[in-house]
Amino acid sequence: MCAERDFNQIERFLRGRNQAHLLSFWAQLNAAQRKNLLAQIRQLDFSQIDDWLANYIKKAAFTAVAADCAPVEPYGLNPDSLDQKRRYEQAGELGKELISAGKVAAFVVAGGQGTRLGFDGPKGNFPISPVKNKTLFQIFAETIAAVSEKYQAVCPWYIMTSPFNYAETKEIFRSNGYYGLGENDVFIFQQATLPNFDFDGKILLADKANIACSPDGHGGSFKALYQSGALEDMKKRGVGFLSYWQVDNPLVNIFDPLFIGLHALDEAEMSSKALIKSEPKEKIGNFCLVDGKVTVIEYSDLPAELTEKRNPDGSLLFQLGSIAIHIINCAFVERINTTGFSLPLHRAVKKIPHVDQQGRLIDPAEPNAIKLESFVFDALPLASKSIVLETLRSEEFAPIKNPTGPDSPETTKQMLVARAAAWLESAGITVPKKPDGSVGCLIEIAPSFALEKNDVKDKVNQIPEIKPNDQIYLA
Ligand code: UD1
Repeated sequence: MCAERDFNQIERFLRGRNQAHLLSFWAQLNAAQRKNLLAQIRQLDFSQIDDWLANYIKKAAFTAVAADCAPVEPYGLNPDSLDQKRRYEQAGELGKELISAGKVAAFVVAGGQGTRLGFDGPKGNFPISPVKNKTLFQIFAETIAAVSEKYQAVCPWYIMTSPFNYAETKEIFRSNGYYGLGENDVFIFQQATLPNFDFDGKILLADKANIACSPDGHGGSFKALYQSGALEDMKKRGVGFLSYWQVDNPLVNIFDPLFIGLHALDEAEMSSKALIKSEPKEKIGNFCLVDGKVTVIEYSDLPAELTEKRNPDGSLLFQLGSIAIHIINCAFVERINTTGFSLPLHRAVKKIPHVDQQGRLIDPAEPNAIKLESFVFDALPLASKSIVLETLRSEEFAPIKNPTGPDSPETTKQMLVARAAAWLESAGITVPKKPDGSVGCLIEIAPSFALEKNDVKDKVNQIPEIKPNDQIYLA
């Protein structure tokens, strides 16, 4: 009876908004489905939907690049003066102190749908380590455990999932005993979703009883950290900084004392790591100074003349690419949430399965709908201060995005082996090479053995002689 009254009211409201089709199959739904559908409709923020329709759905939003778009001056790979050398040393010490004091937490975003890779299940469960075939989640967990051991500190790990992969992710951690981490120190939470629209602005139905929606982008992490209670948990623990990374990159140095220390010394609110792009159009975000603020402009949004523009020495003017590694202050997450600020949305045209008005399930062969999402890096210009630290691709960036070719499991494994080999060589170990110079064996260094190059130097006597085609696992 009550559902019937609600139905009439909502139906009238939806008709006024040109969205009454959401109730097309009402007569075929059972009581639970009806209740659930009404709840989904009530959750839609119609005060915003008009704005989305006008600005993102019915036309592609125009991303204007400000006239005063300038290159960013990063902290370099090495200090460029004696003063800066002292600053790097001071920052390294401060970073170690902050980790030891439990002020830094790990934060991975793992709510994406991983459609490009075509892997069934949460991407974090993808097996990737070259010898033991450890999954991404296991590599990160072992890194966090090794850091906790090294610094004698509890380093909590916050994992953002989406409603589509939350339960599966929880189960992966549960069935793997949280990879040896304390269950209470792994906080798995969900980001929100946004509805999918057809090109006329109609919200799609995933099936007769459910609205079609997608995760709201990694920018949704600001709201999700706040609403899930993760931020509250951090406050209780005295955590002040989040080390943010994407689930697709097993090379990430999650607790980098230099990065954390430089960020803290400079009193920045959100900072980033960057590398030199491999080519002008590499598919990574570009660091730019817009109105004096550090900003990431997605590769697809930076105009060609700026993408290709070169300095007199031939280097790219905008040569710094984003590897989606940030330090974010917890107080900044709170500020964004409590000052009523929302990140801009970006529009993506996608193939979205749905039911049509006849109730037929459509699995489109061509892009048919619009997905809206926000990007975490759009928060950078809101930070009172933001620093950028340059890093090396070979040390920190080998994302798994595609099934084959660039940024695929094959290239990521190669880079894991190449980094392990370089660490061993830096400690004076001879590593067999192929005629083309690539590594002639498989090497995997567990985080418990070394978290960075210098850790290997203390353990050279534990490393066996390595022969061509060997499979070496150091733990
Ligand atoms: C991203 C960045 C790009 C950066 C590159 C580095 C964007 C738009 N671009 O590209 O600037 O240079 O990575 O590898 O992000 N995720 C969620 N929830 C979501 C959507 C994504 O948690 O709703 C997570 C994914 O699980 C993944 C990460 O965000 O960990 C990146 O998402 P993806 O869509 O793969 O970004 P890219 O286009 O690869």
